[in-house]
Amino acid sequence: MAPGLDRLTGKRVVITGASSGIGEATAVLFAREGARVALLSRREDALEEVAGRIRADGGTALVLPCDVSKEDQVQAAFARAEEAWGGLDTVVGVAGVELYDVGDDRVDRLDLSVWQQTIDINLTGMFLTLKYGVQALLRAGGGAIVVTGSPTGLYGIALGEDAYSAAKAGCHGLARVVANEVARDGIRVNIVVPGLIDTPINARFKENHPEDWAAVNSLVPMRRAGLAEEVATMNLWLCTDEASYATGGYFTVDGGWTAI
Ligand SMILES: NC(=O)c1ccc[n+]([C@@H]2O[C@H](COP(=O)([O-])OP(=O)(O)OC[C@H]3O[C@@H](n4cnc5c(N)ncnc54)[C@H](O)[C@@H]3O)[C@@H](O)[C@H]2O)c1
Repeated sequence: MAPGLDRLTGKRVVITGASSGIGEATAVLFAREGARVALLSRREDALEEVAGRIRADGGTALVLPCDVSKEDQVQAAFARAEEAWGGLDTVVGVAGVELYDVGDDRVDRLDLSVWQQTIDINLTGMFLTLKYGVQALLRAGGGAIVVTGSPTGLYGIALGEDAYSAAKAGCHGLARVVANEVARDGIRVNIVVPGLIDTPINARFKENHPEDWAAVNSLVPMRRAGLAEEVATMNLWLCTDEASYATGGYFTVDGGWTAI
């Protein structure tokens, strides 16, 4: 792996959803830039694999298996990371699910159980991440938080993904009011809005509907899906001191998709 530029040296970071896709790419990049990273997601084996690669590269990673929709687990994970490093400076909330093809649907066909599961993980999970993240950053005297949003939370473009769209819109609203509330405490909160990114969350869509996948790719001005690493670099910038005046903003990484 290429050496980093130490842009996060000294930073103590919690990343949810760190076992794959955007969260994993963010963890690897942040560690390369000198941060100590606490990796949260449900699957311990997958987290150990990511942590192993980070440590082999000389980085510091803590594996904290946790379901972001469960308050006791989120609280315990943040407490362990804070205890291990004497505080936290940065939180990146990435964990999320998309139940496309397995229950998410147009509102008149949407089961309450699927709605609830999506809201529990994608919105309540982000609320709990912000709740314990903000508490820790207040104790540390400031820091940076990134919330992973989605174009589906801005526009009604994801037909048949009503629960997912609603959950992401909720994440945007929550992030913006929190950004306003904690700005004077030295905490910045921003929303990264990835467009169509080629990660495991889209595997089902890509495999079961290759023609639709190609059609969506062709709608993007850059005519391709993005890579997890291309979103991770935006997460990185927002968590460096270079982004010192950025808070409460939407930062799209989408090949121009939401520009049209
Ligand atoms: N890939 C895209 O096209 C795209 C576009 C816009 C937004 N997003 C958002 O980006 C984020 C990351 O998705 P990705 O594309 O990297 O997909 P991914 O499936 O690779 O990553 C999702 C991560 O969330 C974790 N996770 C899921 N449920 C969890 C739970 N209950 N508790 C803890 N961790 C849990 C998974 O283990 C995994 O680490 C998600 O919030 C997703 O909604 C993705």
